[in-house]
Amino acid sequence: MVLNPVMIDDFLSNYSLNGEILPVIKYPDIILSKKSALVESFDDHLVQHCKNMLFTMYQAPGIGLAAPQVGISKRFFVLDIDFDREEFTNSKGEVEFRYSGFSPQVYINPKILETQGEILYQEGCLSVPGVYEDVKRFEKIVVEYQDLLGQKQQLTAEGLLSICIQHETDHLNGVVFIEKLSSIKRNFYKKKLEKEKKRKVL
Ligand code: CO
Repeated sequence: MVLNPVMIDDFLSNYSLNGEILPVIKYPDIILSKKSALVESFDDHLVQHCKNMLFTMYQAPGIGLAAPQVGISKRFFVLDIDFDREEFTNSKGEVEFRYSGFSPQVYINPKILETQGEILYQEGCLSVPGVYEDVKRFEKIVVEYQDLLGQKQQLTAEGLLSICIQHETDHLNGVVFIEKLSSIKRNFYKKKLEKEKKRKVL
């Protein structure tokens, strides 16, 4: 199916919170350590995947989600570093969330072309629940990617956006952020998460 550019633009600029919640694959799982394949067809399936991934990310909540984390071994991810989530109690006394300020972004077949500087930031990952650790990243990057229409785009990103793009691009290369930690910390978390995973199966 050939996509209408207006429809794609509308999807991202008038984003409304709907879609399907996808199960997020947890570390250590083989799919998270696989290198993903290039996206070749820019069709309505891809748009649907992105829509569901954004929905899953907002509900979690997270600021980025890569395709391998929902079991798709393809090179794309979604992110939003701007949205707000406010907790409130509805008339029935239940806790609900109010979302605002959406700025959904989709990166397909990203390539980091240039890097500059260093930044330390406490990262977390939807595939590694409960773990938050400082990771060293490039402060500024130039990234080339394709949009939902397959059109090439280039962007200079700094700070949190740069960190998020690097974290998600790592997922496409089979790298989870705890693998960037010192070997002591990495082994500690690996053992802990493997134990937790086993415990759930029993
Ligand atoms: Co992650």
